[in-house]
Amino acid sequence: MDLIKKFDEAVAVAKEKLERITTINDLNQEKPNFLGKKGVIAQAMATFKDLPAELKKELGMASNKARTALETLFENKRIALEQQIINEKLSKETIDVTLPGVKVNSGSIHPLNQTIMELEDLFIGMGYEICEGPEIETDENCFEKLNLPKGHPARDMQDTFYINPELLLRSQTSPIQVRTMALKNGQPIKILCPGKVYRRDADDATHSHQFMQIEGLVLGKDISFANLKGALLEVARKMFGKEREIRLRPSFFPFTEPSVEVDVSCAKCGGKGCPMCKNTGWIEVLGAGMVNNNVLEMSGYDKNEIQGFAFGIGVERVAMLKNRIDDIRNFYINDIRFLQQFKEVK
Ligand code: DAH
Repeated sequence: MDLIKKFDEAVAVAKEKLERITTINDLNQEKPNFLGKKGVIAQAMATFKDLPAELKKELGMASNKARTALETLFENKRIALEQQIINEKLSKETIDVTLPGVKVNSGSIHPLNQTIMELEDLFIGMGYEICEGPEIETDENCFEKLNLPKGHPARDMQDTFYINPELLLRSQTSPIQVRTMALKNGQPIKILCPGKVYRRDADDATHSHQFMQIEGLVLGKDISFANLKGALLEVARKMFGKEREIRLRPSFFPFTEPSVEVDVSCAKCGGKGCPMCKNTGWIEVLGAGMVNNNVLEMSGYDKNEIQGFAFGIGVERVAMLKNRIDDIRNFYINDIRFLQQFKEVK
């Protein structure tokens, strides 16, 4: 009967020891002392073999009871310790969801892109499609098919960078007209084409060897000069204010006939005359005209069936006037103090 006592004692000792254990590691070390091969139970069982049969039975039951009790004790302790670890973690890692978040410093849309986006918006609303073309162009698309054959004096104004005699960095977005006409195969067109262009100009406050243009082209039956004027007036008012008027002056572009230079009434003085408009009341913003018959024919359009207008807007010029920027180079040098002024306040 001593053995039965031993089992009860072992359970009592285990209980006491477990109370003092605070880590899973200590628990794992302690467990074999009771339940291992050389543990208290196993040692007691080793003495069984010399005992009479009926005692064996009683002790067997007692040892099983003690083993189960010990296993339950250790298991419960393990669960308790694990729960404690989780609880500690939870209390340490709680997040105060009411704290304000970390502010992400976002960039802003470049003023040139803002200008392009505003104009795209306006023209998409009038049913235009946005088209693009490559910056490396053929001489044929950039000049020849726009009625500027090799050696034409008007090429001088648009001297550019040549890759070879037939390949160049486009000096205008007008070749997108040629590309689109080739695709549309004599059918009507209504497109707006923004993009970068290049010229062999020395950089100064108003010139840059790389800048941006937006080309517009509308071809269809009965498209007249009145439609061109209407579209241009929309541009002027969208970019410079509802009260603006436009003025068309005769000009020359090889790809349009007649051609016009378009002035907008000065937004600063309202047309009275001020330093910004050089006291004329008007500011020149773009070139336009009715598409030249030669251009239509070279691209397979029947000039008796289809006619239309085209225009070319200098994006920098519009953005400079609109935002009163006095040096074109500000657009390209990525000075954050300049760019931040165009951040939309949300
Ligand atoms: N491509 C011309 C330039 O760079 C601008 C222009 C004028 C485009 C009249 C046109 C146009 O389509 O009709 O100076």
